[in-house]
Amino acid sequence: MSTQSVLFVCLGNICRSPTAEGVFRHFVRQQQLQSSILHDSCGTAGYHIGAPPDHRAVAHARQRGYVIDDLRARQVSVEDFQRFDLILAADRDNLRNLRALCPPAHHGKLQLMLDFSSRYRGQDVPDPYYGGASGFEQVLDMLEDMTHGLLRHLQR
Ligand code: 4NP
Repeated sequence: MSTQSVLFVCLGNICRSPTAEGVFRHFVRQQQLQSSILHDSCGTAGYHIGAPPDHRAVAHARQRGYVIDDLRARQVSVEDFQRFDLILAADRDNLRNLRALCPPAHHGKLQLMLDFSSRYRGQDVPDPYYGGASGFEQVLDMLEDMTHGLLRHLQR
């Protein structure tokens, strides 16, 4: 299998996209696909550049066995549209913002994260930042389901 690369994108890069990267990374490592599948995450906004994931996202992920506290927030850059094969937005607002920044030649790389989910296909991953614990659990439910579909897609 040739190398493929995936970029997970949300707004702040401290809740949804680092969770997506952490869950995806866990199964990439478990299936020993690290040399053929590369991954990263970023935000469309620059509010939290350099910050670790939100402590609630870290805690909820850890309860399910995913370690994400090593990740650091960064903002999307124009080079990302060249560098990555798939660029997956958490929701339609972020997808729209990515489309506005992305050179037309690379628009085919842009999709929603949950396009790869079977249970939640086509939905947005709701922003958990201003809500409670159930929001972080829902994000994990959605992103676990997405991860399995995305890994199947990449291995076809
Ligand atoms: P994320 O969540 O996009 O999933 O990382 C948010 C994080 C921070 C803010 C909004 C959403 N904020 O407004 O600071």
